Amino acid sequence: MAEQISRRTFIKAGVAVGAAVAAGTYFEWQGNNIPAAVQKGTALYDVLIIGSGGAGMRAALEAAKDKNIKVAIMTKLIPTRSATTMAQGGMNGCTGVTDSKDTPESHAFDTVKGGDYLCDQDAVEYFAENAGKIIYEMDYYGYPYHRQEDGSFHQRKMGGSSHARAAYYADESGLATVHTLFEQCLEQNVEMISECQMLEIVVKDEKLSGVIAVDMRSGNIVSVPAKTVIVATGGYGRAYWIRTTNPYSSTGDGIAACLNIGVPFKDPEMVQFHPTGLAINGVLLSESSRSEGAYLLNKNGERFMKKYAPDKMELATRDIVARSIETEISEGRGIGEGLNAAVYLDFRHIPKEIIKERLGQVYDLSLRFEGVDITEKPVPIRCSCHYSMGGIDVIDYKTCATKVPGVFAAGECSCVSIHGANRLGANSLSEVLMFGKTAGIGAPAYAKKVGYVGDKEALNAALAKWNKTFEEVTARTSGPRVVELRDKMAASMWFKAGVYREENQLQEGLKEIDDLIKEYKICYVGDASRNYNTAFMNYIELGNLLLVSKAIIMGAIARKESRGGHSRKDFPKRDDKNFLKHTIISKVGDEFKTEYRDVVITKFKPAERTY
Ligand code: FUM
Repeated sequence: MAEQISRRTFIKAGVAVGAAVAAGTYFEWQGNNIPAAVQKGTALYDVLIIGSGGAGMRAALEAAKDKNIKVAIMTKLIPTRSATTMAQGGMNGCTGVTDSKDTPESHAFDTVKGGDYLCDQDAVEYFAENAGKIIYEMDYYGYPYHRQEDGSFHQRKMGGSSHARAAYYADESGLATVHTLFEQCLEQNVEMISECQMLEIVVKDEKLSGVIAVDMRSGNIVSVPAKTVIVATGGYGRAYWIRTTNPYSSTGDGIAACLNIGVPFKDPEMVQFHPTGLAINGVLLSESSRSEGAYLLNKNGERFMKKYAPDKMELATRDIVARSIETEISEGRGIGEGLNAAVYLDFRHIPKEIIKERLGQVYDLSLRFEGVDITEKPVPIRCSCHYSMGGIDVIDYKTCATKVPGVFAAGECSCVSIHGANRLGANSLSEVLMFGKTAGIGAPAYAKKVGYVGDKEALNAALAKWNKTFEEVTARTSGPRVVELRDKMAASMWFKAGVYREENQLQEGLKEIDDLIKEYKICYVGDASRNYNTAFMNYIELGNLLLVSKAIIMGAIARKESRGGHSRKDFPKRDDKNFLKHTIISKVGDEFKTEYRDVVITKFKPAERTY
């Protein structure tokens, strides 16, 4: 064991040094946050990727392999600060390394069953067949997997999986993913446009012209012409503000931008609540905790999962575990009140060496935020908004194309429908890698075939519009404040469209969000300066979250059944007769329109889920 710990420490030190060297190289190489050609408006990209998480970087890496393709990543952060860094547990893929009985078919079945049969099974089969290769590819790129004695990577079993198939780096798998990809992107000379917030994807008459963005350092609003755009902006967990595992940057920017150009938001009501956020602030305590043996206790010290999922217990799917926790709380077996109510996660029976070696971050987070040493006391936890199963409607999972020519989407912001109504733990990192790569092939192929069809005048008009918007909204001297609206939005979303939902509350929630959208139009930003105007950024992000929130509630009202993460108290059963279909929400002007599309079924006949 001592040998293993020292090996892990060695690898960890290697990652830290590698990251520091890479970041140093980047800033030395880059010299500025955005390339001069972008500042001058003379750049034209074959592939412009919005978002520097796992999907964005993996797409860039693939696209940049063709030296005739000009590719850049635009991010409102710096490239290594994306939400992917916060993923903890691992990446699923059938390799047979740890569990020789695993098969892609078993991975596909677990995924479809976990998704409560709302997954498109053709896409899931494609995903499961290729996910193992993705794990090996990352190995070749230098990913510091947790290793076994013989040097092969180790895989752990996450919730809802019937085999050990999540390859990982301790409980920091996402951080290692981002740094591994970043180094490879540097190697391929991928251009980075950082600290640059996308404001709009410019499309006129179905023709993509490029993107309008604000360079946060200077405050200049720039137009960036592009033959294709890959939207890889991650999730929208901040709609639930403090009860989310997501970083502050997860504000649904890409989904909102796509809604505004006519690309629908698919299955918006399918929000995942992770069972184990820290009680105090929603920060993620990885499912790998339960994978390594931690269990849930109510205030009476009862291991309550035996009532709800007697077979899989704490490793049932997230939707089931989350509902079990909320039921314990609402029936008076939790601790604390209101938003601070919680149950316990108990690690005391797990050997300290395992906690140190595989759950170091879980240990640190519990100590820092809750003041609990998990080797001595159980830590209070509660559900926390974690993931968006729905997203930008991708119409071809083999290219990641959307219905607007030239616009592609990958990662959490997108919906290729592999997660259905509930995502399995560790299917997200493999998804971002696999569909990031897919978009990184699909977009350049399109750019080569079609070329630039954009309209410089449309870009200039959009640029002028955004300069005017900036001047107008920042000049206001009164109005409801952005933070007030944001907090009201989060309360509406948590209490009216949270883990459990019902008609009256959803209708109230919709009205509240509609009222907030009206107030948003006159809200007070409070800072008119150009340089690093975070008040203006917060204003933009709130606008995006409000659009996303409205779609979530509309989808939830229309889906009169319970399936996966969408649980209606007034319609507690799954209804395959009427709702074995995807919700497709589009924005037409200021109005939202709801339609449906059939789910693709191949070999897994819908059946009742038991765990
Ligand atoms: O709990 C976790 O480690 C989260 C993993 C995931 O969302 O895939």
